[in-house]
Amino acid sequence: MHKTLLINFIQADRLAKWRDYFTRALPDIHVALWDDPEVDPVSVEYVLVWKPEPGWLAQFPNLRVIMSEGAGVDHITHDPLVPQHIPVTRMVTNETAARMADYVTMAAYMLLRQIPAIVQAQRECRWANQLTGRLTSDTRIGILGFGQLGTVVAQRLLANNFQVNAWSRRDKDVEGVSAFSGPEQLHTFLQRSDILVNLLPDTAETRGLINDDVLSQLPRGAGLINAGRGHQLDSAALLRALNSKHLQAAILDVFVQEPLPADHPLWRHPCVIITSHVAALISWQAKAEQAITIIKADRAGMPLPLLYHREQGY
Ligand code: NDP
Ligand code: OXD
Repeated sequence: MHKTLLINFIQADRLAKWRDYFTRALPDIHVALWDDPEVDPVSVEYVLVWKPEPGWLAQFPNLRVIMSEGAGVDHITHDPLVPQHIPVTRMVTNETAARMADYVTMAAYMLLRQIPAIVQAQRECRWANQLTGRLTSDTRIGILGFGQLGTVVAQRLLANNFQVNAWSRRDKDVEGVSAFSGPEQLHTFLQRSDILVNLLPDTAETRGLINDDVLSQLPRGAGLINAGRGHQLDSAALLRALNSKHLQAAILDVFVQEPLPADHPLWRHPCVIITSHVAALISWQAKAEQAITIIKADRAGMPLPLLYHREQGY
């Protein structure tokens, strides 16, 4: 009997491409859409998912691996019905890291050159040639989360002449980057962040981390880039920091509720630029390639790449 891989985020007209790609690498894997009534749940060994319906993953008795379509897995693990013995993998490809590095670098330059204020001046047809930015070499960027993405982002920022600090749970030693770790070093790290970049995973410890207290420890006039998760940022605290001019501006890609509700005050704040969770969207081929690598590793009895560690929460 064939084995099934269910995918829950593609349109029916994309299925043929995925099937073709998989047939060449794993001929006995049948790729199907998550709601295909023809699929026998017993045949399902793999799923590749984004925000699956709560409870949905509990119905497959032979499920071997739950593959996340994204780097974060919070959209899967928040469901208490997800079987706890089944491994969950993250989706981080070279393309993910390259695109995240593009996004953060773009956002850092936008903050450096005060683009949110310039866009506002343009809306008001106001000539604002007093707006200048500091130099990259004078700008300290602090990256919260120094993992797979934080590391590549740090390298790209260094290559662009920024000063780079990074904060993680464990100590790190990376050339060119001033590394900080743990709650005890957070204050020093924040004091040195002219631009704070959030690339943390969503865990019990990181939820609500970017609050009034944390924002108040940034230098006056600092900027914020949030490409981690919405739950890590207290948006009311951000609005307070922007309105008091303690923060210059924020560039936000992720939100507690996505899509961000149309009446949310962040949409219309003049010092905020919003992107719709696109910081590191990747091509379908990159996703398919990584899913194939994970399935092959599982079948060969090898350690699964990009495994989510339940005990540490990321
Ligand atoms: P990794 O697991 O590789 O890295 C996570 C980093 O966060 C590590 O450095 C880890 O520390 C650090 N960390 C975790 N918990 C804490 C804590 N309590 N205190 C301090 N540091 C902590 O993840 P990735 O780099 O691959 O991805 C990070 C996140 O980026 C994803 O989980 C996702 O939420 C987000 N993301 C967003 C995207 C978007 O489009 N907006 C796209 C892709 C990812 P240590 O190194 O010590 O383990
Ligand atoms: C994510 C992603 O986890 O887009 O946000 O990969």
